[in-house]
Amino acid sequence: MTANDIEVLLRETAALAGDYLAALPGRHVGAREDAATVAQRLRVPLPEAGEDPLAVVQRLARDVDPGLVASAGPRYFGFVIGGAVPASVAADWLTAAWDQNAAVHAASPAAAAAEQVAGEWMKHLLAIPADASHGLPTGAGLGNMVGMAAARHALLDRVGWDVEARGLYGAPQVAVLIGDEAHATVLTALQYLGLGRDRATRVAADDQGGMRADALADALAGAADLPVLVCAQAGNVNSGAFDPLGPIADAVNRHPNAWLHVDGAFGLWAAAVPRLRHLVAGSERADSWATDAHKWLNVGYDCGFVAVRDVDAHRAAMATPASYLMASGTNREGWEWVVDSSRRARGFALYAALRSLGRDGVRDLVERCCGLARRMADVLASVPGARVLNDVRLNQVLVRFGDDDDRTRDVIRRVQDGGEAWMGGTTWRGMVAMRISVSGWQTTEADIDRAAAAIEAAARAADGALHRRQGGSRRGR
Ligand SMILES: Cc1ncc(COP(=O)(O)O)c(C=O)c1O
Repeated sequence: MTANDIEVLLRETAALAGDYLAALPGRHVGAREDAATVAQRLRVPLPEAGEDPLAVVQRLARDVDPGLVASAGPRYFGFVIGGAVPASVAADWLTAAWDQNAAVHAASPAAAAAEQVAGEWMKHLLAIPADASHGLPTGAGLGNMVGMAAARHALLDRVGWDVEARGLYGAPQVAVLIGDEAHATVLTALQYLGLGRDRATRVAADDQGGMRADALADALAGAADLPVLVCAQAGNVNSGAFDPLGPIADAVNRHPNAWLHVDGAFGLWAAAVPRLRHLVAGSERADSWATDAHKWLNVGYDCGFVAVRDVDAHRAAMATPASYLMASGTNREGWEWVVDSSRRARGFALYAALRSLGRDGVRDLVERCCGLARRMADVLASVPGARVLNDVRLNQVLVRFGDDDDRTRDVIRRVQDGGEAWMGGTTWRGMVAMRISVSGWQTTEADIDRAAAAIEAAARAADGALHRRQGGSRRGR
């Protein structure tokens, strides 16, 4: 390909992306085809001779389109998935063109610099001590693992055990305390780290899913002789609830050898909003923190964030013993802070998103989503048969219909099929619930009202179908 061909390819691709984004707000929100159907179009015999790149890309865009989910759009409320602010999309394109390897400073001083500065801004926004070390993993899930690996190192080092060199064979025991509502990735991290998913003690949670500080204090007192890893949560994936981090930090501080990790995948962003900051009060006293930029900050996938107060523990836990990885000691080496070695330079998109939003923009984004979640809850509370199950203090809303699992599932399916909005389901306190997460930068009050109207219509249709079935079965008797 000539330089001119490449330029044409990239311009045409930019036009495709621009068309996609322009049509996004009006698009059927959920996918219109499943993977098997999309794969039928993609599955041609692998060509012997390569094909024209522009034709390949144009065809790819056309072939996968019905399988795309408008999760970057304004009426997607599934999981906790934000959109991508324009500066992050554009910076990510450049990242692809630059093709930097963020593993080592020598491979890209630019990537190391962006990661350094973006990390400093993140710590500032999220009330994390400025001298904590940080890394950019794929997401908060692996961020949890990195933070907990640093904990494992420090807790065992303090009792004279080198866990990186010797593993856990014959190691002193480490007690792990997690909230009853800990995110699944905390369990996965325990699994990866050899600490055992089922060995962790689950600390009782309150009715919103927040860990009970009194129960944690009791559990810590019961493990007074052991090193203890405590994993707390800022932002429950269903209800948005927060563990009481201040009292939790007090209890951890009273223990002779304990570490507090905070999983704040989206909830930690409350720290960036003065009105919400009380929800995470005490998080600044933790030892490690994990969050996501690809959720509420609306950086495109993927970009997680982890920070660790004890820089040496962080570095020791992630150390890679390879002679050719020349750690200069002064420069930032990306591989020292995450599990990955070679990886994408996530710092550029993160830097661009933060700079384009500014502190006000981040505050406004988080605050706006919370206001929109409350609006959704208020509108849905007046829908006959609908019941909001959680205290809507953040961006998450749980709704149940007709106090019935099947009816609730039916409403969710109807909304998804209708294409006006998309939200998933969950099980909350043994009940099936619709789970609405307001996390996208493009969502407006009009989108909330439009989505709420779609939900109301789906609830009426579900009721109508139920009555018809009941009428039919009565007549059949
Ligand atoms: C509380 C919490 N922790 C961790 C994660 C995992 O984040 P990711 O999938 O970005 O790794 C999530 C995802 O929703 C979450 O809500």
